[in-house]
Amino acid sequence: MIMFGGKGGVGKTTCSAATALHLSSSGHKTLIITSDTTPSLSDIFEEEIGDNIRSIEKRLDAVEISDEAILNKWKKKFGPDFYEILSHLIDVEGLDNESRHQLLDYIGSAPSLREETMLDLIIDLAETCKYDRIVWDTAPAGETLNLLNMPAYIRKHLSAGSRVFEGLDKIGKKIIGKRSIAQIMDEWSTASERISRYIHMRSAFILVANPEALVVKQARRVVEILRGYHIALHGMIINRMITTADSQSLRTLQGMQETYLTDLIKLANGLPVAMMPFSLKEIKGKKALKEAGGGLIKELNLQG
Ligand SMILES: Nc1ncnc2c1ncn2[C@@H]1O[C@H](COP(=O)(O)OP(=O)(O)OP(=O)(O)O)[C@@H](O)[C@H]1O
Ligand SMILES: [Mg+2]
Repeated sequence: MIMFGGKGGVGKTTCSAATALHLSSSGHKTLIITSDTTPSLSDIFEEEIGDNIRSIEKRLDAVEISDEAILNKWKKKFGPDFYEILSHLIDVEGLDNESRHQLLDYIGSAPSLREETMLDLIIDLAETCKYDRIVWDTAPAGETLNLLNMPAYIRKHLSAGSRVFEGLDKIGKKIIGKRSIAQIMDEWSTASERISRYIHMRSAFILVANPEALVVKQARRVVEILRGYHIALHGMIINRMITTADSQSLRTLQGMQETYLTDLIKLANGLPVAMMPFSLKEIKGKKALKEAGGGLIKELNLQG
């Protein structure tokens, strides 16, 4: 799985779409996924994509994972667990059907659960479908990666919380046939560990950046955070480089980019770096994407 991350608007969707197209045309069966809340993959490919995996080119499938799909998946996978936990604590049986659903919708839309479920969904796709490469547009970077700490976090809370929960389990409740809360949490912890393992062992993170002050600052933070989670940065795309400067304003801009380019290359610390020139034409449609991202997979060493 190749994950693309970086600051808003730097060109993640453009770069992941171009990379996916080049991977598929060089013989790899590829799936491109976007988990953006306002996905633009359909606009970039100029084809309606949507919630179900569909083929958009030979050896290339695409899917836009909507919030609704994430919530449905969560409800199916973790909803019963939450329901069981709640039934230890409150009288859920006394609630009408609509209130029960509202309750689960509310819990399931909590931000960290959204990320966790999304990762689970993506890794399910990765493990069940036969793709050589999965390209993930807008992978969590920065603080969102906190969810990779879930196993450790859950375990820590288990040790302190289990006594409390076990206590509750015993209070006059009939728990025959029910799992204890600690047991349920243990199962979540195992699910989180699967995600964490996949990210650490089978994924490559590509940081997309522009040679600009704010983007460089953010890129430094992302690299730092990735290091903290022991996720290896595979490489970097420096997008929107001014390559031909035929006017004074463009030369000024190019001069400014030079400084930040040096900073970004230093930050990459010897890892593969690919440059994407600033395009005066809109990068939309397969033809434009193929032209724009011609050298990406080779320069980033993504073919092998
Ligand atoms: N090299 C480039 N030259 C010119 N325009 C570019 C280049 N790369 C991307 N763009 C344009 O910049 C805009 C933002 O690009 P894109 O949508 O790929 O960024 P993003 O990082 O995915 O944004 P978001 O964070 O909103 O998802 C788009 O209009 C895109 O066409
Ligand atoms: Mg995008």
